[in-house]
Amino acid sequence: MDLLDLIDSRRSTPSRQLGEPGPTPEQCERLFACAIRVPDHGKLVPWRLLTISGEDRIALGERLARLHARKEPNIGAPLLTKDRERFSFAPLIVAVIARIDDKHPKIPAQEQLLSAGCVAHNLLLGAQALGFGAQWLTGWMTYDADAVALFGLAPNERLIAFVHIGTPREAVPERNRPALRDVVREWHA
Ligand SMILES: Cc1cc2nc3c(=O)[nH]c(=O)nc-3n(C[C@H](O)[C@H](O)[C@H](O)COP(=O)(O)O)c2cc1C
Repeated sequence: MDLLDLIDSRRSTPSRQLGEPGPTPEQCERLFACAIRVPDHGKLVPWRLLTISGEDRIALGERLARLHARKEPNIGAPLLTKDRERFSFAPLIVAVIARIDDKHPKIPAQEQLLSAGCVAHNLLLGAQALGFGAQWLTGWMTYDADAVALFGLAPNERLIAFVHIGTPREAVPERNRPALRDVVREWHA
């Protein structure tokens, strides 16, 4: 499949539909090497990756549920179950962390964040190229300071994606995509 066909067929597989097997260590190395080949103004490397797999996924879910229950004592059981399960489906979750120097004299924070976004997107495409399914998820734990602390982020770091990767249990139907005529225009002086 050439690159345009791959991009043309890219779609997310909901994390609940992802299962074993996940990528082998060799596939992970290839995937991550491709994922970090992104545009990077100033060559700042404004991102890093954190992999979550095996029993740590279950432990993470448990910690998130406990934290959520502490923060919202009236939270219902279904939401806590969702927290416990959310990292348990795909065998591999890659957290993409943006490392933003917002005092940089030349490179605006937005450009650093976008470079990190490209890493997340490359993970989606790369996973699909290797025959896996993937989904970019965020959720409350991406934006809650106490939850973010579970991942050991430095003050200048931001979680931007949890990319869930695994083998799709079923084919995902195509969704409606925007029509080009609605999003592409010519600019004229
Ligand atoms: C920054 C970002 C965060 C997202 N977070 C979520 C999320 O928390 N939950 C969710 O259902 N979809 C989320 N999505 C959307 C899905 O990853 C997916 O892109 C969307 O369902 C459209 O499907 P497609 O990728 O096949 O076009 C997020 C997408 C982006 C770019």
